[in-house]
Amino acid sequence: MTRAATKPQSRFVCQSCGEAFLRWEGQCRSCGSWNSLVETVIREPRRLASSGAPSAAAESAPLASVPEPRVPRHPFGIAELDRVLGGGIVVGSIVLLGGEPGIGKSTLLLQAAAGICASGGATVLYATGEESAAQVRLRADRLGLLSGPAGSAIRVAAESEVGRITELARTDRPTILIVDSIQTSTVDELDGPAGSVGQVRESALRLAELAKSESIAVVLVGHVTKDGSLAGPKTLEHLVDAVLALEGERFAPLRIVRASKNRFGSTEEVGVFEMGATGLAELDDPARAFLSGGATAGPGGAAGERGAPGSVVAPTLEGSRPILVEVQALVAPGPVGTPRRTANGVDPNRVALLIAVLGRRAGIGLASHDVYVNLAGGLSVEEPALDLPIALALASSLRDRPIAAGTVAIGEVGLLGELRPVPGLDRRLREAARLGFTRAIVPGAGDRSDRSGPVEGLAVVRVDSLREAVEAALGPAAGRVAAAPARC
Ligand code: TYD
Ligand code: MG
Repeated sequence: MTRAATKPQSRFVCQSCGEAFLRWEGQCRSCGSWNSLVETVIREPRRLASSGAPSAAAESAPLASVPEPRVPRHPFGIAELDRVLGGGIVVGSIVLLGGEPGIGKSTLLLQAAAGICASGGATVLYATGEESAAQVRLRADRLGLLSGPAGSAIRVAAESEVGRITELARTDRPTILIVDSIQTSTVDELDGPAGSVGQVRESALRLAELAKSESIAVVLVGHVTKDGSLAGPKTLEHLVDAVLALEGERFAPLRIVRASKNRFGSTEEVGVFEMGATGLAELDDPARAFLSGGATAGPGGAAGERGAPGSVVAPTLEGSRPILVEVQALVAPGPVGTPRRTANGVDPNRVALLIAVLGRRAGIGLASHDVYVNLAGGLSVEEPALDLPIALALASSLRDRPIAAGTVAIGEVGLLGELRPVPGLDRRLREAARLGFTRAIVPGAGDRSDRSGPVEGLAVVRVDSLREAVEAALGPAAGRVAAAPARC
């Protein structure tokens, strides 16, 4: 009774049918869905019809006379991060930075906070529910940020209750509010534990309201696990203006920031960083970072040591930026039974399809082989242009024949074994030539869109089918001999 008097009411609302209940139940009594009830705060309606005040009339305007939106931004001064956001964080916007635990989200945001304060005038409120204020200080010290303007312009609060965080933000009026993390945030009105869908959603809703009403840019940290089982980021995506993901292999140094949603910019650009002893550093030449020996390889060195069977370099395009990535494949005779197929950084379904096309259209039979495909450096690439490099890496591994050093390959493979053109071919090839590659295997006849001039220093081999591409890469016999199914 006393609780009802002091707390605004909450209900358990079914996410499938919208029916509300007083208590949590495993199954919705209205529609029968399981585990669909989420604790939700019931709010007072803002404008009561009975107040008598006439509500503002709805208006429309001719499209051309709608004023152009003003999108003021605060650049972080970290070029790779600003690039992903489209020039900086938009005033009054709310951004979610997701990533696996330990990948470097807190590090990136502390550096970004310092970056924004470096130009003077801006302030940051860093609300941490994950760590103590002393731990945040320790990290800042390690990153060398304490002595600079960041030491005074960043304020830290070890607080996870959203009501108190928003109150603090209304008094401090920071340029940016960082909430680390949304999984530890709670609102007092809800009973559910931190991290539950109800808490996460309500916390994010209130922080989004704060961002809009106070013109404070808000950044939320969200943890995601490999199987995506943690409550949070997925349900948050529609609440926020931009969703950034920090990706990479935890025990390798390279990190990629990618936007999967961005209301104020493109979602195609990526930022590339390297995690080192003093935090995340921008790379001099991200295009070569994902070649083995990558970030530290000297000019021209990237092309020199290619040539292991199963390795193919592909000039991929991430937004407007070409990035060369090494596709590695290992094919081994499998035991009797279902062969193993493992893919890291590429779509396993795409690999399965390529295995089938290689078998039927190019005489490279892998049906009874275990197959492993990996992108060096922990990058994941979705573009279908990676089909040809993956297929060539598989063929090269099966034949145990290396592809000539200095070769790159790019192209989409169709079900008939035909090669399809890829966008931005010219940009990809110029970047490959700049990094010292001398030969490129690319789609041929159909590729009219990209018939640009020759690229200096690069011999371009145009092929029409996967079979031709395999011959161009591995020599004439490779595409004709059907692999005998090897069983042990
Ligand atoms: P952290 O930012 O705490 O990750 P998250 O917030 O995503 O959980 O970073 C954790 C890892 O980064 C940790 O394993 C240590 C490493 N690290 C460095 O290698 N160099 C550094 O300068 C810092 C601050 C962290
Ligand atoms: Mg953290």
